[in-house]
Amino acid sequence: MNKDLLTIYNLTRDDIEEIFERADHLKMIREKGRVYQPLKGKILGMIFKKASTRTRISFEVGMYQLGGGAIYLNSSDLQWERGESIADTAKVLSQYLDGILIRTFAHEEVERLAEYADIPVINGLTDLLHPCQILSDIYTIKERLGEIKGVKIAYVGDGNNIANTWLIGAPKMGMDISIASPKGYQPNKEIVEKAILIARDNKSRVEIMKDPFRCVKDADIIYTDVWVSMGKEGEREERWEAFKSFQVNLDLIKRAKDSVLIMHCLPAHRGEEITSEVIDSERSIVFDQTRNRLHVQKGILEILLGGR
Ligand code: CP
Ligand code: NVA
Repeated sequence: MNKDLLTIYNLTRDDIEEIFERADHLKMIREKGRVYQPLKGKILGMIFKKASTRTRISFEVGMYQLGGGAIYLNSSDLQWERGESIADTAKVLSQYLDGILIRTFAHEEVERLAEYADIPVINGLTDLLHPCQILSDIYTIKERLGEIKGVKIAYVGDGNNIANTWLIGAPKMGMDISIASPKGYQPNKEIVEKAILIARDNKSRVEIMKDPFRCVKDADIIYTDVWVSMGKEGEREERWEAFKSFQVNLDLIKRAKDSVLIMHCLPAHRGEEITSEVIDSERSIVFDQTRNRLHVQKGILEILLGGR
């Protein structure tokens, strides 16, 4: 695997299988209550410029469970916020830490940090991508359905970091993906182009549309995310207007396969992008997704920081 994990685009299918294999093993060890500490003495620095519940806690707990430690770095406490360059920050952090997790706005900041850091940099979400989330989501689907090739995922809602990451992750693993988003909120164009090429190689399908009902037809999975991502709070009203017919509710899920599973990266805004009756239904696997964040990320940490 490369030094860093910034995007699923740079991972081979073998890299992803290796992460999943380690996640399976680490999950089994955890469930048996065994202690396994391959990262003893290693410290992960975790820079957050945005809020987080799952990413922060699962990475921090993951590091402790693997025998290492983690330092939460609120970006406003770093000299970076007062003008220290990203390059200098990366060089300094490389002298103290064994890895950096970063959640920020501009994806370019993560790329720049990785370029200048001698240690692994992991993308914990940018405005563009959220690779750790989608890797654990693919793992969750595999765990549930056994096979992922040919599985159809229908993403309904904002063409944001989650949609963009699915566009790379799904075709790479041979899954079909349909995305329905309103005009003006469709996924990143360059990523769509890349996704189409990956799909061509892997004989899968990528569709971008505006009709949520057509999107979920024959879907095995319906996935959604918030209408107002972090940093977009000022657009709340216009977004509500644009997204009101994109809610994942009972009426919509009826149009998919009877066996359809419902996914959401969380946090959810119940009554907005998804109704409570859907997210609390038997079809929902949102808390499996949450649980697997821990195991999959431990797999990533073990590989990147442990030098496997
Ligand atoms: N899904 C996810 O990344 O959640 P947090 O924002 O709570 O980390
Ligand atoms: N699209 C959401 C994902 C949160 C995990 C956001 O960026 O706020």
